[in-house]
Amino acid sequence: MTERLSIKDFQKMKENGEKITMISSYTYPVSKIIDKVGIDSILVGDSLGMTIYGYDNTLNVNLEDSIRHTAAVVRSSNRALIIGDMPFLSYGVSIEQTISNAGRMIKDSGCQAIKLEGGRERGEEIHALMEIGIPVMGHIGLTPTYINRFGGFKVQGKTQEQAMRIIEEAKFLEAVGVFAIVLESIPWELGKKITEGLSIPTIGIGAGEYCDGQVLVIDDILGLTQISKPKFVKNYANIQKEIEEAVKLYKKEVKTGKFPDETHRYD
Ligand code: KIV
Repeated sequence: MTERLSIKDFQKMKENGEKITMISSYTYPVSKIIDKVGIDSILVGDSLGMTIYGYDNTLNVNLEDSIRHTAAVVRSSNRALIIGDMPFLSYGVSIEQTISNAGRMIKDSGCQAIKLEGGRERGEEIHALMEIGIPVMGHIGLTPTYINRFGGFKVQGKTQEQAMRIIEEAKFLEAVGVFAIVLESIPWELGKKITEGLSIPTIGIGAGEYCDGQVLVIDDILGLTQISKPKFVKNYANIQKEIEEAVKLYKKEVKTGKFPDETHRYD
């Protein structure tokens, strides 16, 4: 039986200069393929609110949604490190509630670690989670649960002041004990500077090529996303087109009586 990667393997990869591969994915069949290919980690991101449930942002996702999808991804895999993403307001209310919700994520889904967004304001919660044995991945830069504060999905860290704040947040998160940090939508030079200044791995999404690892949303990799495409996305397939062609052909064959034929019927 294959052994799952752990947060210790993430650290070794950083030390050995081996890039970490991560995909944000939410369903059993797709995550099974991702795991088979040998992607190091699957983040069951709260982006599922947009990709799976069709909301405009991630704020509507609740803990039950996240646990259900994370459990499906755990069942689909046996090698990747699975990280459950804590949705908006499942943390940040009280330390007790954060521990209880993160504990449910770990116990009910079977994932190995959790992610939550924010910097210095998350210090006490992260410390409490680490104390109880729950590994935490941080997330700074463009943190989607803060979009109402940011005024939309906007690149962060473009001014000297913002950049200094993000560097300080990264150092703070490292000191408080997170095992890795997602850097989202920041200038590449800032991504490089943060990565070089930390001993834990950085995982970039729109943070340039110098991060220790990269994460993309599976729908973006497959070309399935129907909404606007951020600059950092690279489509590796055009599944939207393939689905369209397959459904068109099915429609045509049913309408014309070509499907089903005698090979698809029972005697
Ligand atoms: O929700 C998500 O998928 C994420 C990644 C894009 C980092 O937070």
